[in-house]
Amino acid sequence: MDQSVHDLTANQPRDEPWYRPAGNEVSLFEHCHNRGLAVMLKGPTGCGKTRFVEHMAWRLGRPLITIPCHDDLAASDLIGRYLIRHDGTVWQDGPLTRAVREGAICYLDEVVEARQDTVVVLHALTDYRRTLPIDKTGESVRAAPGFQLVVSYNPGYQRMLKDLKPSTRQRFVAMDLDFPAAEHEALIVQHESGVETALAKGLVSLAGRIRQLRDRGLAEVPSTRLLIAAGTLTLCGIPVREACYAAIVSPLSDEPSMVSTLRDLVDGTFV
Ligand SMILES: Nc1ncnc2c1ncn2[C@@H]1O[C@H](COP(=O)(O)OP(=O)(O)OP(=O)(O)O)[C@@H](O)[C@H]1O
Ligand SMILES: [Mg+2]
Repeated sequence: MDQSVHDLTANQPRDEPWYRPAGNEVSLFEHCHNRGLAVMLKGPTGCGKTRFVEHMAWRLGRPLITIPCHDDLAASDLIGRYLIRHDGTVWQDGPLTRAVREGAICYLDEVVEARQDTVVVLHALTDYRRTLPIDKTGESVRAAPGFQLVVSYNPGYQRMLKDLKPSTRQRFVAMDLDFPAAEHEALIVQHESGVETALAKGLVSLAGRIRQLRDRGLAEVPSTRLLIAAGTLTLCGIPVREACYAAIVSPLSDEPSMVSTLRDLVDGTFV
């Protein structure tokens, strides 16, 4: 049994998870929630997908159950299984079944990583039936009010190898999240790391230059998350260039000529 699924599920956080909207995603999500529509969040790593779902669960007052997907994830990891105990056999709900019964928001992170035969269990939940059939018990669980399915994935990553079937994709309202505009991203970096405005703007301007290298061989570009990490290191007393080498340059590339180009951009930004 995949324990990570159960260990990483979480209930609704009590404090508001701070989220800075880029457009109308908050109201679009609210409409989807109120109408029982499933949502697909698309966007690069570290652009705010998880934070957005946490914020929306808090805002809508729903519990949030998060399931990180991977290629070993079986349908029974989502739905549940019989456990053999000293006093007999008992059924234990999986995280998806719990979410369906509790009326929670169920968030499947990196859904393209899951096998297609696993993803298919979502189908009856995402159309007019709104039910989860549990073959092993013969039960058909109708989704409690408030239940909503949300999935996310990074469209750039392993796109050629993995994709969702059209019959799955067409069950979701898709929202494209991306790195925010420079002004918004600086506010996010400032809020999350605690650095001064000028440094937050400098980190965002560095990110803008590095992101332009995507067409020149840089496979992964820096996320907002990396900029926050660099800012956080500076507040620990690490000089800004060193913080950028460690938190931005090294995580992005192992290739010496690319590393040298990235370091030059850091040195050019923070002279
Ligand atoms: N719009 C935003 N408002 C507030 N914080 C944000 C926003 N975008 C990004 N962040 C910050 O960036 C961090 C990374 O975002 P998050 O973990 O939500 O990314 P993700 O898209 O889920 O990435 P991954 O695909 O790797 O899971 C967050 O912890 C948060 O600090
Ligand atoms: Mg995430």
